[in-house]
Amino acid sequence: MYTHHSLLLTPGPTPVPLAIQNAMNLPMVGHRSADFEAIAQQAFSGLKATFGTPNDVIILTSSGTSALEASMRNLVNPEDHIVVIVSGAFGARFQQIAEKYAHHLHVFNVEWGKAFNTDDVLAFIQSLDYPIKAVFTQYCETSTSVLHPVAELGHALKAYNASIFFVVDGVSCIGAVDVDMTRDAIDVLVAGSQKAMMLPPGLAFVAYNDRARTRFKEVDSPSFYLNLSKHLSSLEAHTTPYTPNVPAFRGVVQYAKMIEAEGLAHVVQRHYVIRDAVRHALKALQLDLLVADDVASPTVTAFIPLDADELVTIKEQLAKTFNISIAGGQGQLKGHILRVGHMGFISPFDLLPFVAALEVILTNYRKKHYIGKGITAFMEVVHHDL
Ligand SMILES: Cc1ncc(COP(=O)(O)O)c(C=O)c1O
Repeated sequence: MYTHHSLLLTPGPTPVPLAIQNAMNLPMVGHRSADFEAIAQQAFSGLKATFGTPNDVIILTSSGTSALEASMRNLVNPEDHIVVIVSGAFGARFQQIAEKYAHHLHVFNVEWGKAFNTDDVLAFIQSLDYPIKAVFTQYCETSTSVLHPVAELGHALKAYNASIFFVVDGVSCIGAVDVDMTRDAIDVLVAGSQKAMMLPPGLAFVAYNDRARTRFKEVDSPSFYLNLSKHLSSLEAHTTPYTPNVPAFRGVVQYAKMIEAEGLAHVVQRHYVIRDAVRHALKALQLDLLVADDVASPTVTAFIPLDADELVTIKEQLAKTFNISIAGGQGQLKGHILRVGHMGFISPFDLLPFVAALEVILTNYRKKHYIGKGITAFMEVVHHDL
């Protein structure tokens, strides 16, 4: 072990800044109190900029998957036809949720590691003999590190049939991308706390437009805890229907303050600089990237070691020798890729230990000299973009 400090570079959970930890450590208040109402009001409205919405954002005390489920449950009746785009493990999760509710489900499969092609999605929808109520997709498919062109699809869907609801799972990129729900024609946008939003796990967020809010009231699919109309009624009264995670709501307020102080545009730019620098460094270390540059996520990067032994060596030595955690592949990509997360409370310089450690591991493992190569490539990008 060469470091006392662990470095968490998984695609969620991510490091939590001290300012957020401190805010979460303030003394507990009752959730049916004026104190909490003030916190809740600031938290709901503090998320508007990040989600690119004029509406207060619903906060659920549950993990990201609950927001995926809630979006489906509150927009779709059992007899409705829906399309789910599956391009990785989290698209598969949307599919599993849909299968539970016995919706008429039409799956549009995308090769893992690729982004969807908007024309192909539209052609698929047009080929179906049923009117489609909603289309569900990931924004960043965390399992592959693709960032899908959701704005392009949003516009195409609206132009084709404006009554279709477009639902986007932004769990692993909201807080790191430039999104505007109106501009990008997104009806419901969901996220989780533990990724680019620098918070601990355990909160889920649902942003919605006015059309979706009206639809939430009309849908008669059964729901209780995840009934979004109930959450909206409480939100208007600056509270929640059930006991919320009070410390995490304080964390959200602190998050919003930090984003405002840095400026959202800079936050987004910081993520893209890191993405480009990481990709440049990995290429310099002769590690293939799973995803093409033009659809690479600013929050997570998937790379392909030469073989299974090298993959295990990299992951284990990063953890054991350098105290750095990254993630492996999921589903069909398990054992084929590694994923490094770079989102939330992270600066370009936080990635340097990872790149330097890779140089050492690969130099020893491949018996080839990589020292300085990754860092040089990384800093070439960073110094241009800062
Ligand atoms: C894109 C995406 N959707 C959904 C989820 C599920 O979120 P949770 O594990 O918080 O339920 C994740 C978690 O990694 C994710 O990355």
